[in-house]
Amino acid sequence: MAEPLEYNPYAFTVHDNPYVTYRRLRDEAPVYWNEELSFWALSRFEDVLDAFKDYETYSSRGGVALEGRRPIDKAHPKFQEIIEMDPPEHTALRGLVSRVFTVRRVAQMEDEVRRIVNHYIDTVIESGHADLMADVAGSFPMDVISAVLGIPECDRDMLRDRADRGLTREDGSLEIPIEAVEAILEVLAYFTEDLERRRAGEVPGGGLLSDLLGLEVDGRALTELELLGFCLLFTFAGFETTAKMVGNAVELLSRHPDQRAAVVADPSLIPQTVEEVVRFHSSTQYMHRTLTRDVEMHGQRMREGDSVLLLIGAANQDEREFGPTAGEFDIFRKPDRHVGFGYGVHFCLGAALARLEGRVALEEIHRRMGDYTVDHDNKVRFHSGNVSGWKNLPISFTPASRLASVAG
Ligand code: HEM
Repeated sequence: MAEPLEYNPYAFTVHDNPYVTYRRLRDEAPVYWNEELSFWALSRFEDVLDAFKDYETYSSRGGVALEGRRPIDKAHPKFQEIIEMDPPEHTALRGLVSRVFTVRRVAQMEDEVRRIVNHYIDTVIESGHADLMADVAGSFPMDVISAVLGIPECDRDMLRDRADRGLTREDGSLEIPIEAVEAILEVLAYFTEDLERRRAGEVPGGGLLSDLLGLEVDGRALTELELLGFCLLFTFAGFETTAKMVGNAVELLSRHPDQRAAVVADPSLIPQTVEEVVRFHSSTQYMHRTLTRDVEMHGQRMREGDSVLLLIGAANQDEREFGPTAGEFDIFRKPDRHVGFGYGVHFCLGAALARLEGRVALEEIHRRMGDYTVDHDNKVRFHSGNVSGWKNLPISFTPASRLASVAG
C-alpha cells in the first residue's frame, strides 16, 4: 500500500526532496486538495500554464503566497504590490517600471554586475574556501538591485538580513513567524523614511525609487501604498530568488561533474545552464491564486474563493511536457518553454536581470574557482514558503590571487 498522498509546502521534508511528492501529485491527484491547510494544488505543466494565462479566473488579488492570502479585494493595509493586482490595474503600474528591466537596458549593467560579483569572490579567493551563500551568491544580488533602485551601500546589509528573515518559515506551519513579521515591518519602516528623505532631496544618486516619485499613472502620482509596494517587491523579489538560483546552480553542477567540466571548458554553455537550473529547480516553487468562479478539472470541482497553488516546481518536471528525462538535470536540454519565471501578465519582470546576474556569477565562479568541491555534509537548507535554495553552501577550491582591477 502506498503512503497516503500529502503535500505541505512548509514541511522541511518536502523542501529536502519535493520531487517524489510532485510526481505523485501529477500522476495521482493533478487537482489536489489539502484539507488541513485548505488549498488546491495544480501540478501538471499544461494546467499550471493555463492557470497562469487565465488571470480572470485565477486572480492574484487574494495574495500570491499561501501564508499571506486574504479574501479577494481586501487590500493589504500597508502596501500595494503589482504582483497582487490583476489587469487592468496591474497593466498600467507594470508599464511604469517595465522599461527599466528590458533586455537592452539590463545588458548595459553587465560590467557593473561583474565588478560586484568579483568584489565578493575577491574576499575569499586567497583562502581556498568559502560559504558560497554567505560570501558570494547571497550577497551580490542585493548590491545589483540596490544599484538599480538607488539604495545607499550602507543600508544593504540590513536589507539582506531582513529579507532573509522576512521569508523564513517554520516546519510544516502556515503561520508567519513573529521574527519574519518584524523583519518585514522594519523594511517597511525603512522605506517609509527613505521615501520621505527622497522627497526632501536628501538621498543622493537617485535610481528607480527616486524616479517613481515623479511618475504618473492615469494622470495621477503614485500613492504611498503603491510606492511602498514597489520598494518591498523589488527588494524581496529581486534579491532572494536570484541569490538562491546561483547557489542551486553550483550545488547541482557539483553533483553533475561532467556538466560542470563542460561549463568550465566552454563558458558559452552558461546561459543555457542558467535556464536549466531555473527549469529543473526554480528558486520559486509555487505561486498562489484565488478563484473568481467555480472550475471543474480532472473530475474535481474547485469553488469560487478557493485557494489554488500553481506548482512551478512540479510543472517544470512534468514528463508530459519535457519527456521521459524531465526529472534529470541536463544543461544540454534547451526546452522551448518552462514556468520557472512564471507566465503571462505577471511573467517575472526581473527575468532579464536574473538571467544576466546568473550568467555573470557562474562565468566568474567557474573562471576563478571552477575546481570547487561542495561540502554536502555541511550544507544547510533555507526554509521558506516558496523560495527554495541554500542558506549555507560550504565550498573548497584552489586558492588564487585577487583581481588587481576590482576596487573594494
Ligand atoms: C532566478 C531569479 C528569479 C525567479 C526564479 C523569479 C520568479 C518569478 C516568478 C515565478 C514570478 C511570477 C509571479 C506570479 O505569477 O505571481 C515573478 C514575478 C516578478 N519578479 Fe521575479 N524572479 C526572479 C528574479 C527577479 C529579479 C532579479 C527581479 C528584480 C526586479 C524580479 C522581480 C519580479 C517582479 C517585480 C515580479 C512581479 C511582476 C508582475 O506582477 O507583473 N524577479 N518572478
